[in-house]
Amino acid sequence: MSYINAGDTVMLSDMNWKDAVTLASPYPYLLVTSRDAKNVPNAMGLGWWSFTSMTPPLLVISIGKGRYTLECIRHTKDFVACFPGKDIAKESWSCGVLSGRDGDKLEKLGLKTIDSKKVKSPIIDGSCVAFECVVTDEMETGDHILFVGEIVAMHGDVEKPQHLYSVFYSKLVCLDNEGNRNFFLEFK
Ligand SMILES: Cc1cc2nc3c(=O)[nH]c(=O)nc-3n(C[C@H](O)[C@H](O)[C@H](O)COP(=O)(O)O)c2cc1C
Repeated sequence: MSYINAGDTVMLSDMNWKDAVTLASPYPYLLVTSRDAKNVPNAMGLGWWSFTSMTPPLLVISIGKGRYTLECIRHTKDFVACFPGKDIAKESWSCGVLSGRDGDKLEKLGLKTIDSKKVKSPIIDGSCVAFECVVTDEMETGDHILFVGEIVAMHGDVEKPQHLYSVFYSKLVCLDNEGNRNFFLEFK
């Protein structure tokens, strides 16, 4: 093992991908919704996203090439970035494990949707805040596709500021928007 030293103190040791990404956690955990060619709604769990512009308001999401969501977003040309609240934590995790290619996961999990105002993709009921996005661009970034979404509508519930953060592929932590921890769920 090799180290980066600050004076005589050992500060940082070399790390592999999994350990480094885990140590950089937690990441705000989203459900990204879309619809397939038969209009069936879908939602996948997502940690790789970012706001990227205020004017115009843009956010980016990174979707693995094998995800059913990739086909669905190319079909709808829009998506909704939903921050799932604590009441739907377990179901939200399952959206990050099951594929819509194997059937309607929202129905299977008992997750309800609400029609969006400006896009075809729906909002997940039980979200703390949701951003309706129209795809303005996509680019290949290694084994993922990066979609740029222009935010065309926003909805939130100020009474429910608690939402979920992921620690690599092993945990969900529920924090409110002041950083207070509510609970965490471990999945192994
Ligand atoms: C904590 C967590 C974070 C995830 N983040 C991403 C991500 O940023 N990008 C991605 O492509 N998949 C991510 N996934 C995996 C997808 O959610 C998963 O493959 C899902 O089954 C895809 O569903 P789909 O085939 O219906 O699109 C994540 C899963 C979990 C549990």
